[in-house]
Amino acid sequence: MSARRALIAGNWKMNGLRADGLDLARALAAWLDGEGSEAAARLDMLVCPPATLVAPVASVIAGTRLTVGGQDCHAQEKGAHTGDVSAWMLKDLGCGHVIVGHSERRTDHGETDETVRAKAAAALAASLVPIICIGETEAERDAGQALAVVSRQFNGSLPEGATGTNVVIAYEPVWAIGTGRTPTTEDVAEMHQRIRADARACLGDGADALRVLYGGSVKPGNAAELMGIADVDGALVGGASLKAADFQAIASACP
Ligand code: PGA
Repeated sequence: MSARRALIAGNWKMNGLRADGLDLARALAAWLDGEGSEAAARLDMLVCPPATLVAPVASVIAGTRLTVGGQDCHAQEKGAHTGDVSAWMLKDLGCGHVIVGHSERRTDHGETDETVRAKAAAALAASLVPIICIGETEAERDAGQALAVVSRQFNGSLPEGATGTNVVIAYEPVWAIGTGRTPTTEDVAEMHQRIRADARACLGDGADALRVLYGGSVKPGNAAELMGIADVDGALVGGASLKAADFQAIASACP
């Protein structure tokens, strides 16, 4: 960890009806102002609820230290795209961030680096910070291609106009998402070093400010180890972000 301020982001995925989502958001916001105020002094906490809950969550956390973001956005500002949500719409609801290129979107919706780059560009144009997800599959890791794949995704997904502070990268090995498996600390360190080096090649010294999160089965029990790795600047958390106590424990474990 460095001078960069950590970001602990919760990706609720397709989970949460109104009552549960609002209870969770209220609990986290109250924690940041109370027992979690020490954590709040050193890190940012973000929740990314399903699109249906962005507006109600934004209204219950208004004026607190908790922030809200989207899980995906369309590359266009508006138009004939049934079922999609634009970055501008998320901004309008009070979002500051939007996840783009999550592996579930890349797999379920056939998103390519090009799609992800266009979505990230839309986020920047709407004054949102895109959290750009990259990560290798298990087959790619087994074939010794993890570094090459992640470099290719990084370079292919980073939008024009990106700086060290207007985008966030999330390294999420696909095989670690929702599986309870995590890479070794050495592997995480190696991947994050590579991403930082790739960022330096595109952004120059701006790369020093870039936040690179780790994601994939981050839990209270492994958070201290994962978050303590050099060049890891926080976490993108799925399953464990759905329980206030677990998400708070992860934040508390983050240096
Ligand atoms: P997980 O998901 O924490 O449940 O593994 C992480 C993610 O998909 O962002």
